Amino acid sequence: MRRSIITGCGAYLPERTLSNDELARMVDTSDEWITARTGIKERRIAGPDETTSTLGLKAAERALAHAGVKVTDVDLIVLATATPDQTFPATACRVQSELGLTTGAAFDIQAVCTGFIYALATADNFIKAGQADTALVIGAETFSRILDWEDRGTCVLFGDGAGAIVLQAGKGRGVAEDRGVLSTHLHSDGRYEKLLYVDGGPSSTQTVGKLRMSGKEVFRHAVVNLSDAVSEALAATGLTPEDIDWVVPHQANRRIIDATARKLNIDPDRVVLTVDRHGNTSAASVPLALNEAVNDGRIQPGHLVLMEAMGGGFTWGSALARW
Ligand code: ACO
Repeated sequence: MRRSIITGCGAYLPERTLSNDELARMVDTSDEWITARTGIKERRIAGPDETTSTLGLKAAERALAHAGVKVTDVDLIVLATATPDQTFPATACRVQSELGLTTGAAFDIQAVCTGFIYALATADNFIKAGQADTALVIGAETFSRILDWEDRGTCVLFGDGAGAIVLQAGKGRGVAEDRGVLSTHLHSDGRYEKLLYVDGGPSSTQTVGKLRMSGKEVFRHAVVNLSDAVSEALAATGLTPEDIDWVVPHQANRRIIDATARKLNIDPDRVVLTVDRHGNTSAASVPLALNEAVNDGRIQPGHLVLMEAMGGGFTWGSALARW
């Protein structure tokens, strides 16, 4: 049985930092309110010359370097984003072109904050089916471009960034040690569209639109759906919360992350947190957090890593991997 192995990761954050104090000069809010309700202290904002593809490209290059993989070995690029450079072509094709690649397949996945989990599950299935050997899985976003900067209920929550992993067929390489992606589970339920959406689009308004959200209701659904996603991954693999070395959750809100860990009896010290410095970077948040924990040495070979996310759609899901 072929299995896909995460052989490298990389990330990129724009230079510009936007602090809570700066936000308090733009809308009626305060560092105290944002910190207490979300755990966010600052977020990064893409510069005028940066787009989702430029952020994604940098993360992808770093992931390839970390994996020690040649660009020409890549035969699949799956890029998760809700903020593509253009309506089409896919942002993945731009990244492919900037990498100098003219072979393989490249496409975008749209599952908002769950996008990276969807992209990872898709690439994993391509590899398991034998249709790809080396995949770049990228989560990249410029949510600053779709925020209503006069709506204090949403503009304080999000940031820009990108993260990427290299996923490779592990046939005969580490598979015996049970290394690689062990499970992925995806869900969606379109009934909840109006709780979190963008009020524009090419086919409806011919505008890009702005993000709209009913925060309290999203919060309530998030804790339930994320707990279910983690329980489902554990049940499918016969593992318990104690077996998990690191949980890498979608970084939407410190209170959602804490409430989910509490509900599942997961030790908070084993939860990777970046939301304080990144805010919610949607599809980029899981690979950004993963990259941080790999680079600072928390995630070690053999560790069990559980990734989970929930976002607009609603969409939600999990991916469990042994590092
Ligand atoms: N600064 C100050 N006051 C604010 C702000 C702000 N930035 N935003 C809202 N308020 C006010 C509201 O106007 C309201 O005032 P009122 O009582 O006078 O009407 C008060 O604060 C309470 O508002 P609530 O919306 O009830 O506050 P709540 O405690 O629910 O916190 C928050 C809001 C942080 C948005 C929370 O609901 C949340 O985190 N929801 C999850 C949303 C999320 O993370 N979405 C991301 C996408 S989905 C995902 O990734 C999981």
